[in-house]
Order: sequence, then structure tokens, then C-alpha cells
Amino acid sequence: MGNKIIITGGCGYIGSHTVVELLENNFEVLVLDDLSNSTEKTLERIEKITGVKPQFIQVDLKDASKTNAIFSKHKDAKAVIHFAAHKAVGESVNNPLKYYKNNLYSLLNVLSAQTENGIDNFIFSSSATVYGTPKILPITEKNETQRPFSAYGNTKKIAEEILEDLINSSDSFAAISLRYFNPIGAHDSGFIGELPSGIPNNLMPYITQTAVGVREKLMVYGTDYPTKDGTPVRDYIHVVDLAKAHVIAVKRLINKKQDEAFEIFNLGTGSGFSVLEVINSFEAVSGIQLKYEVTARRPGDVPQLFASTALAKEKLGWSAEKSLDEMISSSWKWEQNLRALENSKL
Ligand code: WQD
Repeated sequence: MGNKIIITGGCGYIGSHTVVELLENNFEVLVLDDLSNSTEKTLERIEKITGVKPQFIQVDLKDASKTNAIFSKHKDAKAVIHFAAHKAVGESVNNPLKYYKNNLYSLLNVLSAQTENGIDNFIFSSSATVYGTPKILPITEKNETQRPFSAYGNTKKIAEEILEDLINSSDSFAAISLRYFNPIGAHDSGFIGELPSGIPNNLMPYITQTAVGVREKLMVYGTDYPTKDGTPVRDYIHVVDLAKAHVIAVKRLINKKQDEAFEIFNLGTGSGFSVLEVINSFEAVSGIQLKYEVTARRPGDVPQLFASTALAKEKLGWSAEKSLDEMISSSWKWEQNLRALENSKL
């Protein structure tokens, strides 16, 4: 076929949705995942959606020799999309070395293995967290980056710096870093979505788990921010829109359409919604009154983050299509379907 893409972390939340979009665009996919925060069942669920079960190898990418051995057997791959990473912000503050070791050793091993095997295209799963507390909104890719509050966030910033150095040293290596704002939502099929392990850190899974009764109530972290209603404002983006951007980015790399060897794009909708607006939309979409209580601010939270989407639109021809209500209704469908899925063979 000649269009194989290696997806690290392909059983995870954004990875699995990207695998679906790649398969639907007739790419061949090899998923690498250590299953530390995901399940192999995701591959069967992807097959249910697309009719294709992606190739899969379970591997810990911190293991350089195993990583090398895999890449040397898949030299024909055209690109790597690197999702595999730990992502719990709070845990990374308490255990920074776990995050630096996992996220950076894995990155270094993947980059070494792919470049040693002649695979020169790389897409990086980055985050708006690299902007820290932005002085200018909406955030363009030209906004200065700041040292993120958490070790998790800092691994994203360091990774982009590593990529820059690697690109400056090479005539052939090229990369696109995609800075996600706040991914929520799930595939319309209800077969894949976010699977937070333990107590969720993020707003959307906390809301849906509270609504199904797994959590007693949502804590709203602060209503004294300088925003429209006092709660923080974020740029929530549907995970399927996000996944589609990866397909466009990978085609851009493979077809050598970049303007520069290292390109960076924000992936957001450009619209900001407050925590209370998200709660209100959830209540309207689900018909459920959510139990919540206002509490103190969460350390590290910034008042407002929303993207300028102009560059992604201009260069990738991509913009997000799905509304906040579609994000929320698909997250809610997924939460309700999840229990049924876990009790079935799928
Ligand atoms: C959104 C808003 C909270 C939970 C984080 C990472 C970022 C990115 C996405 C991840 C905030 C409020 C939340 C709750 C609440 N990357 N909230 N009660 O903090 O914008 O971004 O996730 O892989 O790097 O930092 O997202 O969903 O945690 O919070 O009131 O129980 O919801 O204060 O204002 P955040 P979030």
C-alpha cells in the first residue's frame, strides 16, 4: 500500500480517534501502545467503526532496543504520529520524574529509532499549556511560550525544543507540532472516547461521571476569575475535529507541502466557554440537573485560554466544525454507552 503510519499511543483518547480517521482515509496504521492507560479492546472497537483492525504491538517506548527493533521492521512507514505520554497534570506535579522519564525517554527513543530507519516525518501531540498564562488573546502561534506550571506541561515544551534542534541538524527530518486546546467529545458511534483512569482531572469526564452517579458532585474551582461569569474560560474542541487535523497534517508532511521543516499549529475552535457555560450546556443537552459546588481555585489554572485559528485555516485548510453541544452530547453518549460496552464482549 505504501502509506503506513506509525501511531504511538493509538489506543488512547486522541490516538484512537486519529486511527479511525486515518483508516477512513485509507492509510495503513501500526499502533504502538504500552496499554498503561488504555485498553486493547479499543482496537476491536475501531474495527467495529471502520471495518479494519489496525496492526498493534504492545511496547514500552522507554525501552530503546525494543523500540528500535520495531522501527527497523517498519522502515516503509511514511510518518510517525506520537501521542504516547502520561498526561495527568496533578500527578506530574507530585511525581515530576515519572513524567520527565516517561514522556521524554519515549520521545527520544522514537525519534532515534525513526531517524535511524529513514522515517523522516513526525507529528507531535503538543498542548496549549506551552503558552503558560497568555498576555494576549486569542493565542496565536507567535505568542511567546512560557515555562508551564506542571512537569507534564513542561515535557511538551521541552519536546518542541528537542524537535527544533533535531530539525536544525538534519536535511531530511520534518515535523509538525499540534498544540491542542481542550479536547472533549467522543466518536458519534459511541464505541470510543475518553477513558480516564481513577478520578478524572478534567472537567468534561468529571461532569459526565457525576451525571451517571459515579461521582457525588462536581467541584467548580473558583468563581472569582476576571472572566464573563467568574469561572475560567477554555477553548473546547471536539476530538473528532482534532483527529481530522492530524490526517491533514500527515498528508502535508508526506507530500512535502510544508513551508518550513518545523511547523506549529494551534488546534482549537477560537471560541471560549466558561465552566458555568459548559455546565449549563450539559444540563440542556442531557436534561439532567448536575450536582455541583463552588470551591477554591485549583493551583495552576489560568483565567482564559482560547486559540487564534487563523494559521491552521490558512495553511492546513482546517477548521473545527463541531459545536459545544455536539461535543457535550457525544461525551454524554459515550459515558452512558461505556458501561454497556464493558459488560459486553467488545
Ligand atoms: C477546565 C476548567 C478547571 C475539573 C488540562 C491540561 C492541559 C490539557 C487539557 C491535557 C478549568 C475547571 C475542572 C473540575 C473544574 N492537556 N474544572 N472542576 O486545566 O484547561 O487543561 O487539560 O492532556 O494541558 O492542563 O482542563 O478540563 O482540567 O479544566 O471546575 O473537576 O474546568 O478549573 O477552569 P485545563 P480541565
